Amino acid sequence: MLLNDLSQTVKVLFLGGKGGVGKTSTASAVALHRARTGGRVLLVSTDPAHNIGHLWERKIGDEIVTLFDAASNAGGAGAVDADASQGRLDAVEVDPQRTVAAHVREVGETLRSMMPEHLHRQVDEHLRMAEESPGTHESALLERIAELVEDSLEDYDLIVFDTAPSGHTARLMALPETMTVWTEGLLARRDKAERFGAAVRALDRDDDPVTQRDRRIRAVLTRRRIRFEHLRDVLRDDRRCAFVVVLTPERLPVLESAELVKELESSGVRVGGLVVNRLSPADAGEYLAHRRAQELAHVDSLRELLPQLEVQTVPLLPGDLVGAEAVGRLADLYG
Ligand SMILES: Nc1ncnc2c1ncn2[C@@H]1O[C@H](COP(=O)(O)OP(=O)(O)OP(=O)(O)O)[C@@H](O)[C@H]1O
Ligand SMILES: [Mg+2]
Repeated sequence: MLLNDLSQTVKVLFLGGKGGVGKTSTASAVALHRARTGGRVLLVSTDPAHNIGHLWERKIGDEIVTLFDAASNAGGAGAVDADASQGRLDAVEVDPQRTVAAHVREVGETLRSMMPEHLHRQVDEHLRMAEESPGTHESALLERIAELVEDSLEDYDLIVFDTAPSGHTARLMALPETMTVWTEGLLARRDKAERFGAAVRALDRDDDPVTQRDRRIRAVLTRRRIRFEHLRDVLRDDRRCAFVVVLTPERLPVLESAELVKELESSGVRVGGLVVNRLSPADAGEYLAHRRAQELAHVDSLRELLPQLEVQTVPLLPGDLVGAEAVGRLADLYG
C-alpha cells in the first residue's frame, strides 16, 4: 500500500494538497503508523494555520514535543509489538514569524557587515520592508525546512511534512534551486571583493578585522549554500524523498491535483503517489452508496489523468477525527 510502503522506504515524506482534504490527518496517521512499527519519526507542520496540535489536542510549537513513545506508550495512540519499542513520534510546528525574524536578523547581519557604515540605516529600512514581503516568508520557511532536513535526518528514520495548501508548496519546492544559484552568486562576488580588498590593503592577516569579517560572511553563505544543496539533493532523490498529493474524490480536486502534480514535477520533485481521502462506504445505506459510485468515477478520471501514479483510497471514518486515539484509528488503516 502506497503510504505504508513509502513510510518504510523514504526518509522524507511531504503531504500536500488543497485546503481541508486531509493533509494533517494523513500526515499524522502515517507518521504514527511508522512510529508504531519501530521508527523514529518527526512530524513537521509548515502550514501557518498549524493544525497538528488541534488534531492531537496537544500544544505544539516551534520546539519539538513527543506525541507518541512506544517504550511508554505515551499519548495512548495504540499498543505496539515489543520489537517496535524504539518507535517514537515527535512533532514541531514551524513558527513562520519566528523563522522570518531569525532569517531577517541573519541576512541583516550579513548585509550590514558587507555595506559601509553610512548605508546601515538604509539596510535596516530595506529589511523592515522585506520582513513583510511574502518572498521573505517563503525563503525563511525554506531555510527552516532545509535546516530541519539537514539536522534531523540522522536522528530520525522518517520526517513527515504537513504542508500548506497547494500552490504555495509547489513554489516552495522550486526554491532550493533558486536559492542555491543566488547564494553561489553572492559567494562568487565575495571572492572577487575579498581578493580586491586584500590586494588594496596588501595584507590578509588573521588579526585584521576586515579579513575576519569576510571570513564570517563567507562562513554564513557557505553554510546556507550547503544546506540548500543538501535539500535540493534530497528533494530530487526518489529513494529518499517523496511528495504525496492528498485529495478528496470530487471533480475539482481531481483537476487541481493533476495541475499540482505537473507543477511539482516541473520543479524536479517526484510525486510518489496520490491519496484519495474520505471515500464514502458501500455498506451504509443507499445515499452513501450512490455517493461512493460517483466518487469512484472521479477516482477513475484521476487514474486516467495521472496513469503513472499509484492511488490509495482512504475511507471516510465515522465521527470526528480528534485526539491521539482517533489518529490511531486512521493509522490502523495503513497497517
Ligand atoms: N478519512 C477521514 N474520515 C473522516 N474525517 C476525516 C478523514 N480525513 C480527514 N477528516 C476530517 O476532515 C477535516 C479536514 O482534515 P485535515 O485537517 O486533515 O485536512 P487538511 O488538508 O490538513 O486541512 P487544511 O488545509 O485546513 O490544513 C477534519 O475535520 C478531519 O477530521
Ligand atoms: Mg492541515
